[in-house]
Amino acid sequence: MAEHTQLIDAINIRTAVRAYDPDPIDDDTARQLDMTIDAVNTLAGIRIQLVRDQPAVFAGANASGHLKNAANYLAIVGPKQDDEARERAGFYAERVVLAATLRGLGTCWVGGSWDAAEAARHCRVPHGDELYLGVVIGHPENHLSRMAAPYEQLVEIQRTHRDGKTYEQFTRDMDDAARQAAPAWFRAGVEAAMKAPSALNRQPVLFSYNADDDTAAARLDPQVETGCGPNDLGIAKLHFQIGAGSGTWAWGDGGLFIHR
Ligand SMILES: Cc1cc2nc3c(=O)[nH]c(=O)nc-3n(C[C@H](O)[C@H](O)[C@H](O)COP(=O)(O)O)c2cc1C
Repeated sequence: MAEHTQLIDAINIRTAVRAYDPDPIDDDTARQLDMTIDAVNTLAGIRIQLVRDQPAVFAGANASGHLKNAANYLAIVGPKQDDEARERAGFYAERVVLAATLRGLGTCWVGGSWDAAEAARHCRVPHGDELYLGVVIGHPENHLSRMAAPYEQLVEIQRTHRDGKTYEQFTRDMDDAARQAAPAWFRAGVEAAMKAPSALNRQPVLFSYNADDDTAAARLDPQVETGCGPNDLGIAKLHFQIGAGSGTWAWGDGGLFIHR
């Protein structure tokens, strides 16, 4: 793994991890994660908080077997009734997820598989804010052998671990000629977004390339029901940006990406 330290490497090996070893996240690792979290909170205008050793938050999911040994989480807190803040939360919390992945940690976004009221008791939720979602974080089950696995093996697990929509489905707004004409950075961006987590694996984001002004656009598919649309849009935009190599997004449903 040593030479695989880029965010695109994290995208290529990340999967949702639902079974963890009981080992705690040590102080040094927590400090490193907090440095990333502090930086993204400043950029995002939200409050991501790392909460360690609170297994009661996952008591139900651990008991049912849906999760195993889940005890630590990122609490994602931001302004109430603000879809753009939720999009930024998805974008920047996924940035923390990818940093954690590169440290050998496992993660799983959670909207349903936790006790949100219990989770809120262990983090700061200022007046006017709410707890949006969580991300379970910890050492994946059998993490020592997993850390020793070749990068290529982890890539293969990511590639085959679930069904997903095709490139054509992600670019439904384009015809074949437009797909052919799109630059390599656009395809690489969409392929990174295809590997992104989304609520219930619904993959609700559509991408298109506009040759007239050399921009890409991302929009939420109105045909896809998801309770977490803005969050999923933010996650998908981060993956696209990393896949495309460089460039910036405008926030919002239909926001444009300018490649640099
Ligand atoms: C906003 C959001 C909420 C999620 N909530 C849950 C959840 O409550 N329980 C769960 O097991 N997985 C949850 N997931 C994980 C998704 O099921 C998972 O990302 C998706 O199936 C794709 O699989 P992958 O992450 O392994 O690529 C959630 C993901 C997102 C982005």
